[in-house]
Amino acid sequence: TKISVIGAGNVGATTVQRLAEMEFGSIVLVDIVEGLPQGKALDLMQAGAIVGYDTKIKGSNDYADIVGSNIVIITAGAARKPGMSRADLININTKIMKDVCENIKEYAPNSIVIAVTNPLDVMTYVALEVTGFEPNRVFGMSGILDTGRFASFIADELACSKRDVEAMVIGGHGDQMLPLPQHSSVFGTPLPELLGENVIAGLVERTIHGGAEIVALLKQGSAFYAPSAAIVQMVESILRDEKRILPVSAYLEGEYGQKGIYFGVPAKIGCDGIEGIIELELTEEQKQALKESSASIKGSIEYLNI
Ligand code: NAI
Repeated sequence: TKISVIGAGNVGATTVQRLAEMEFGSIVLVDIVEGLPQGKALDLMQAGAIVGYDTKIKGSNDYADIVGSNIVIITAGAARKPGMSRADLININTKIMKDVCENIKEYAPNSIVIAVTNPLDVMTYVALEVTGFEPNRVFGMSGILDTGRFASFIADELACSKRDVEAMVIGGHGDQMLPLPQHSSVFGTPLPELLGENVIAGLVERTIHGGAEIVALLKQGSAFYAPSAAIVQMVESILRDEKRILPVSAYLEGEYGQKGIYFGVPAKIGCDGIEGIIELELTEEQKQALKESSASIKGSIEYLNI
């Protein structure tokens, strides 16, 4: 098995660290900055002698090294600065995605592509267009992170273990994401039976702005520990053919009343990538919110210069 990670920044390098420790197979880390992926790869290889893994990790500035990859993870791009929205990144990162995806198409034409670069749902669409791959093997990481944040806040509120919380967040990976309290539960009990409406509304609000909260605290860069953990959960479900139902940014072909765009939905993830999309029951208000979220993604796609 071979996994390639494009972008040796915070998210990319931390993802490689997590993957290396799990010993799925060899890893290639690619970046445009000379020396950066090579240096981080060497450091991560040496960590193996201490932690106890034999994963081969190669740092490179040459896409020829991704040949034969089963999975390619795209974390290349600019991250948000304080006050910057995910949409501000659109033009800078579209150019980067085009360059990366043309290379994936050439050197790893049979790979499954996981996009991470923001604005996520739009960049995943760029990846689909540029690679020309089937939609089941081009999808984005968003919902697992947003769901993780929601679950973490729920666990804090209830003073319970995060492991007993099943949360669900769908929609665009941005201010219009939709945490779904009625599809979130703690050890089987739905959230609305555990917490008051106002408390839930507060947790939902904090989840929606969970990324921005961290950006504001860090003052430079954005979250990467939870994002890398989310990426690895997707990789694990693919490589072990676990067929887990995970919220990911998937190409919709009629599901949730949407066609031709990407946004976050629960999907079955296995060796073929997306093996099915699960349609959850939504309230009228949620359906409306989802429409607005998808309209904003559609709007961005229309102005794309691919
Ligand atoms: P970072 O700035 O630490 O790393 C980005 C890396 O990409 C840099 O090393 C840079 O040299 C490299 N890069 C730039 N252009 C490239 C190109 N053409 N080819 C190859 N490499 C290139 O940023 P970080 O924190 O790792 O975030 C990466 C991206 O992931 C950002 O767009 C960020 O917004 C996004 N992100 C998405 C999340 C999600 O939930 N989908 C969560 C966290 C971050």
